[in-house]
Amino acid sequence: MPHHPAMEYLDTKTLLIYGLAAAVSIPWLRSGGESTIPAVAGSKGVISSYLAGLRFPFHAADVVQQGYCQYRNGVFRVATLFRWEYLVSGSQRIAEVASAPEHVISFHEGIIDALQSDYTMGPGITRAPYHVEAIRGSLTRNLGRCFPEVRDEIVHAFEDILSLEGNKWKEFHVRPNITQVVARTSNRLFVGLPLCRVPEYLDLNLKYTVTIFMGSQIIALIPDFLKPLLGPLLSTRKSSLRHALKFLGPIIDERLANERDYGRDWPGKPNDLISWLIDLAEGEERKTEALALRILTTNTAVIHTSSMGLTSALYDLTTYPEHILPLREEVERVIAAEGWTKSALGHMHKIDSFLRESQRLGGVGALGMPRRVVATEGFTFSDGTTIPYGSFLSVPATAIHYDPENYDNATTFDGFRFSRLREQSMGLEDPSDCHRVFNRHMVSTGHDHVVFGHGHHACPGRFFAAMELKAMLAHILITYDVKAETKGIRPLDQWFGVVRFPNSGGKIMIRRRV
Ligand code: HEM
Ligand SMILES: *[C@@H]1O[C@H](CO)[C@@H](O)[C@H](O)[C@H]1NC(C)=O
Ligand SMILES: *[C@@H]1O[C@H](CO)[C@@H](O)[C@H](O)[C@H]1NC(C)=O
Repeated sequence: MPHHPAMEYLDTKTLLIYGLAAAVSIPWLRSGGESTIPAVAGSKGVISSYLAGLRFPFHAADVVQQGYCQYRNGVFRVATLFRWEYLVSGSQRIAEVASAPEHVISFHEGIIDALQSDYTMGPGITRAPYHVEAIRGSLTRNLGRCFPEVRDEIVHAFEDILSLEGNKWKEFHVRPNITQVVARTSNRLFVGLPLCRVPEYLDLNLKYTVTIFMGSQIIALIPDFLKPLLGPLLSTRKSSLRHALKFLGPIIDERLANERDYGRDWPGKPNDLISWLIDLAEGEERKTEALALRILTTNTAVIHTSSMGLTSALYDLTTYPEHILPLREEVERVIAAEGWTKSALGHMHKIDSFLRESQRLGGVGALGMPRRVVATEGFTFSDGTTIPYGSFLSVPATAIHYDPENYDNATTFDGFRFSRLREQSMGLEDPSDCHRVFNRHMVSTGHDHVVFGHGHHACPGRFFAAMELKAMLAHILITYDVKAETKGIRPLDQWFGVVRFPNSGGKIMIRRRV
C-alpha cells in the first residue's frame, strides 16, 4: 500500500470508531431527496444514494468531476455519507454565492461542517472570529514593516534545515522540511524570537494542525447524534492548548500585565500577532487561555496551506525546469535594483505567475468555498434555481481550475501564463480600457480561481501567504540549484476524501549555487 498521509492518523482506534458509526447509521435516511436539483447519476434513490454516500470519500474527485461535466454552469448534488452536497458552478452563480450575506448563506456554518470546528477547534473560533480582523487588518498592514524579520527567518531556516556541505547535491525530502520552514517563518511574525525557533513549540503546532485536518475528515464521517460523544475523543484541542500554554502563557501574561500597568500603547510593545490579538480581544477572549488558543488556531490556518503551496511549487519547478532561468533572472534583476523588500516582491511578476499557476493545478481539493444555506426559505439564484434550507453547498474547485473554458491548455502547467497576460494587458493603448486593471495576481480570487476562496470570506491571510511564498521561492532560486529526483517525474498528489495533498514522501535534489 502506498504511503498515505492519512495513515499516520488513521490508527486502529479511529477505524473502529468509524466502523461503529457507519453501522449505527445504516437506518439514517437522507433528507432533501425531493429536491428538483439533479443528482449525479446513480445516487438519487434512498438506497442507491446511501450506497453512493458510503463510497463518496473514496471517489470524491471523480464523482464531482462527472457532475461538473454533466451539469456545467449549473447546480447539481452528490450523495455524501450523511447528506447531499450541492455543487454550484458557472461565473454568475458563484458570484451570487460569494456575495450572499451571512444570514442567507453562512460561511461559518460551512466551516463548522468542513473542519468540524466545534470539536476540533472549539466553538469560540466561529462564534467570535476576531482573529480574522487581526489578520485582515493589523497583520496585513504591517507586512511591509515586518518584512526584514520574515526575510531573516527564511534565510536562517533554510540554512539550518538543509545543512549543505560545499556545493554537493543533496536529497531534499520536501514536505516535512518545508513545513518546518513555514512554521518557523510564520511564527517569527506571530510570536517573534526566540519562541519561533523552539522545536517543541513548532512541533506542537504542526501536530495540532494535522489532527484538525485529519480529525475533521473523520469526525465528518460520524452521524451528528454521535458527534458530542465521539468528537472530543478525536480532538487534541485540550491537550494541545495545555502544551501551548507552557510556551505562550508567560508571554501573554506579561503582555496583559504591561497593558494594565502602562496603557494600551505601552513603550516597547512588540509588533506581532500576540499584540494585534490583544488589541481586539474583548471580555472572555482577553484570558490567557483564549488568546493562546487563537494563536494555535491561526497557526492551523497557515502551516498546512502555505507549506503545501510551496511544496507543490518546488515539485513544479523541478518537473518543468525550463522555468528556472527566467525566474532566477527576474529575481536577480529586481533585487539588484531594489534590495529585499516587500515592494520588490511586488515587481516579481514571473514569480507571482508561477505560484498562481502552481496553486491553480495543485492548490485545492475537489471542493472549495464550503457554505450552508441558513435562510429558512432556502437560497434562490437569479435564474430561479433553489437550494433548500439547511443544505450544504460548495464549488467544484478542481474541476473549475482544470476547465478548458476557463483556461487555454487547461491541464498543462504553464508557469508564465499569468505574467504574459499581465504584459499583454499593460501594453494596451487605451488607458481607459478595463483590461488594464490586471486581476490575475497570486492574491486575486475569481469564479475561475478559488484557491483562496472568493467573496466576503476570501482568505484574509493571502497577502501574507503570497509574501511568504514569493520570498521563499525567490530565495531558493538565487541561493540554490534544484532538480528533480527523477527527471520529468512529478511526485504524485495524494487524496484523502475531498482533500488533496502534494506528495508527503516526494524528494528533489538541491545544492548551494557557486
Ligand atoms: C497558501 C496559503 C493559503 C491558502 C491556500 C488559504 C486558503 C484559504 C481558504 C480557501 C479559505 C476559505 C475561503 C472561502 O471559503 O471563501 C481561507 C480562510 C482563512 N484563512 Fe487562509 N489560506 C492560506 C494562508 C493563510 C494564512 C497565511 C493565514 C493567516 C495569516 C490564513 C488565515 C485564514 C483565516 C483566518 C481564514 C478564515 C476567514 C474567515 O473566517 O472569514 N490563511 N484560507
Ligand atoms: C527533512 O525531513 C526528513 C523527515 O522529517 C528528514 O529525515 C530529513 O533529514 C530532513 N532533511 C532534508 C535535507 O531532507
Ligand atoms: C496550447 O498548446 C498548443 C500545443 O502545445 C500550442 O501550440 C498553443 O500555443 C497553446 N496555446 C496557448 C494559448 O498557450
